[in-house]
Amino acid sequence: MFSRGLVTAAMTAALLPAFPAHATLPAPPARAALHGGAAATVDCAKVKCLALTFDDGPGAATGTLLTTLRKSGVKATFFLMGKHVEERPALVKRMAAEGHEIGNHTWSHPSLPTLFDEEITTELKATQDAVAQVTGRAPRLFRPPYGQTDDRVAALAGDEGMAQVLWTGTTLDWKLRDEKKIRAVVLKLARRDGVILMHDVVPQTVRVMPALVKELKKRGYHLVTVSALLQGRRLAPGETYP
Ligand code: NI
Repeated sequence: MFSRGLVTAAMTAALLPAFPAHATLPAPPARAALHGGAAATVDCAKVKCLALTFDDGPGAATGTLLTTLRKSGVKATFFLMGKHVEERPALVKRMAAEGHEIGNHTWSHPSLPTLFDEEITTELKATQDAVAQVTGRAPRLFRPPYGQTDDRVAALAGDEGMAQVLWTGTTLDWKLRDEKKIRAVVLKLARRDGVILMHDVVPQTVRVMPALVKELKKRGYHLVTVSALLQGRRLAPGETYP
């Protein structure tokens, strides 16, 4: 995926031949700031977008996954567990720096509807604080463990400033534990504006990702964050998507 930013920079260079080439090509951080980052380079109203999401991390293989995503220019969304953020803060910092979206997946992965209000809030708040401490920004998205939720859970997440994100397709990669099967399931579930649930704590998912990303791109998908799918609309706290 070549960004519109690169085309713009090349065109600018062509229009200003009198300047030395290095003077007309801004450094990558400046270009990202100028164009509003990766989200501005893909318009999901015009092209076929798909959001890959990874839950339960960061784990031992998450660094490998981040390298795959960086090499292929793909942005993803990670729903992190607070206790894992505490264990692997450097990976969380890297996720944010490399343009991925970070969501809250609770501190310890309980089934939230079975808990008291205060317990739910503690799970959410501790994770918000852990992410904010590392990245400087608390998540605006939340995904309930096991997808188990209700109006009360959604409202309590809303109180912490988060919208609830579910999925259009779940891979059950944690159960399959097989690269070929995971690849086949994702390709079957992929559809325009879809949200695919996977786990970066499943080594087979991380291992199959280079080939899978290549195939999804071949099929015309632009792989973006959940927020990029929304084409600029911001989810309201407490809202559920999709
Ligand atoms: Ni989970």
